[in-house]
Amino acid sequence: MLLAASYSLAYVMIPPMSQHTTDQLPDRSTREQIRTVAVEAARRAGVILIDYARNGFRVEHKDALNLVTDADTHSEQAIVDAIGRSFPDHEILAEERGRAGGTSAYKWIIDPLDGTTNFAHGFPAYAVSIGLEYRGRCILGVVLDPTRQELFVAEAGGGATLNGTPVHVSRTPKLDGALLVTGFAYDIRISKKNNLDHFAHFAVRAQGLRRMGAAAIDLCYVACGRFDGFWELKLNPWDTAAGSLMVDEAGGRMSDFAGGPFSIYGLELVASNGLIHDEMVEVLNRPSV
Ligand code: IPD
Ligand code: CA
Ligand code: CA
Repeated sequence: MLLAASYSLAYVMIPPMSQHTTDQLPDRSTREQIRTVAVEAARRAGVILIDYARNGFRVEHKDALNLVTDADTHSEQAIVDAIGRSFPDHEILAEERGRAGGTSAYKWIIDPLDGTTNFAHGFPAYAVSIGLEYRGRCILGVVLDPTRQELFVAEAGGGATLNGTPVHVSRTPKLDGALLVTGFAYDIRISKKNNLDHFAHFAVRAQGLRRMGAAAIDLCYVACGRFDGFWELKLNPWDTAAGSLMVDEAGGRMSDFAGGPFSIYGLELVASNGLIHDEMVEVLNRPSV
C-alpha cells in the first residue's frame, strides 16, 4: 500500500520548475519542427536497434571494455540522415563520427545506442539519445527506450514527458530512503578515479544502489521518479545532453560533485530529485578510506 502510494507520486502532474524562458528559444513553429524531426529520428533508430537485436550484429572493441556494434553505426547514420534532410546546416556531434557540419546556432548531440554493453549481451536496457543545443544551451532532449517503447521528451521551458504524460522527480526526502544509480567509465581497470570509493560510501547510506548501464536511461529514470539520484564520472556530452534536460524539466537538480553548475562537457554528474542532492554531494566529498 505504502509502495503503491509512493510509486504513483512520481507521475503526479506538477508544473515544471523550469529556469528557461521562451524568449531565449527559437520560435514556436521551429520548436515544433525540431521536436518532430528528433522524435521521428529516435523512433527510426529504435526500429534499427530492435532489428539488430533480433537478427544479430557484429561487435568490435574500441578498447578493452568499450564495444561498438553495427547497430550503433547504422542507428547513428539514420539519425544523422534524418536531421540532415530537415536541417542541412545544423552542427552534429555524434558518438561514433564525432563533429560534423558547419558552425550553426544549433548543435545536435547524439548517442545512437546508449548501453552498448547491455545491447551486446542481450540485456534489454539501452536507448537512443538525441539532444539539441541552441546558442550553447540544451533546448530539447529525446530519449527512446525501444524495448519498453518508452519515449521521454524534454523541452526547455516545456517540461518533461514519458509517452506524452508529464513526469516529475520523486519526493523521497532523505538519502536513507533513496534508490540510487551509478555507472563506471570504460577506464575502470586502469584509472584510480574509478568511482568504486563513492559506490562503497553510497552502498551503506542509500536504501538501494543500481548499475543500469545506460546513462541516458538513468537520467530519465531520475526525471520520472524511478530513481531518486544518479551520479557518475567521465560521461560524454552524448550520454547526458538529452537526459540532463529531462531532469531539469522534471523539477530535479543537476550539478557537479561540488554542487556547482553541471555541464555536459564536464567530468562529473550528480542528478537528483533536489531533496537528497546536498546529502549526495556530501557523500561524494567524503575522503576515501
Ligand atoms: C555508456 C553507458 C554507461 C556508462 C558509460 C557510458 P555507451 O555509454 O551510458 O551506463 O556507465 O560511461 O559510456 O558506451 O553504452 O554509449
Ligand atoms: Ca553512451
Ligand atoms: Ca553509445
